[in-house]
Amino acid sequence: MKKTSIISALTVSALLLAGAALAQQAGKVATLRGSDAADADQAGEVYHQDEKRFPRNYRQQPPLIPHTIDKYQIDLKANECLGCHDWTNAGDRGAPTLSMTHYLDREGNQLDTVAGTRWFCNQCHVPQADAPALVDNTFAPSN
Ligand code: HEC
Ligand code: HEC
Repeated sequence: MKKTSIISALTVSALLLAGAALAQQAGKVATLRGSDAADADQAGEVYHQDEKRFPRNYRQQPPLIPHTIDKYQIDLKANECLGCHDWTNAGDRGAPTLSMTHYLDREGNQLDTVAGTRWFCNQCHVPQADAPALVDNTFAPSN
C-alpha cells in the first residue's frame, strides 16, 4: 500500500517537473521584475520637474510640489519644508509662502506657527513622477 502511494507521488512530481521544463522551453515566460531573481532590483528613472510650478487642475487643489522632496524630513519634531516655506523664511529663500489657511487651527483661530492640521505637508502635497497612468482618467474640473 505504502509503496504504491510513494510511487504515485514520485510519478506526479516527475510529471510536474516535466511540465515546468516544457513551460520554460516555450521561452515565453516573461519576468515581471524585469531582471533576474538574483539581481538587485533597479528602480526606474523617475522624472521630477524642477523648474516651474504646476498649473492647478481644479480650484481647491493643493498645489503639486515642483521639486524633489526625498531629502526633506517631516516627523513629529522636525519639518524641513518650513525652512523655506514658513512665512518667516520664504522671502529669504525665494519660495512661495504657505497660504494663510495653513495658519488657522480647526476652530479658525489665527496662529503664528503652522497649524498642526497642516504639519504633514505630503498628506496633501505630492511631487510628480512621469509614470504611466494606471487607469484612464477623464477628470474635468467643474466651473
Ligand atoms: C530649499 C528650499 C525648499 C524646501 C526645503 C522645500 N521647498 Fe517647496 N518650493 C521651494 C521653491 C523655491 C518653490 C518654488 C519653485 C518655483 O516657483 O519654480 C517651491 C514650491 C513648492 C510648492 C508649489 C507651490 C505652488 O503654489 O505651486 C509646494 C506645494 C512645495 N514647494 C511644497 C514643499 C514641501 C511639502 C516641502 C517639504 C517636503 C518643500 N516644499 C520643501 C523651495 C523649497
Ligand atoms: C490638509 C491639506 C494640506 C496640508 C497638510 C498642507 N497643505 Fe499646503 N495647501 C493646501 C491647499 C488646499 C492649498 C491651496 C489653497 C490654499 O492656499 O489654502 C495649499 C497651498 C500651499 C502653498 C501655495 C501657497 C500659495 O499662496 O500659492 C504652499 C507653498 C504650500 N501649500 C505648502 C505646504 C507645506 C510646506 C505644508 C507643510 C508644512 C503644507 N502646505 C501642508 C493643502 C495643504
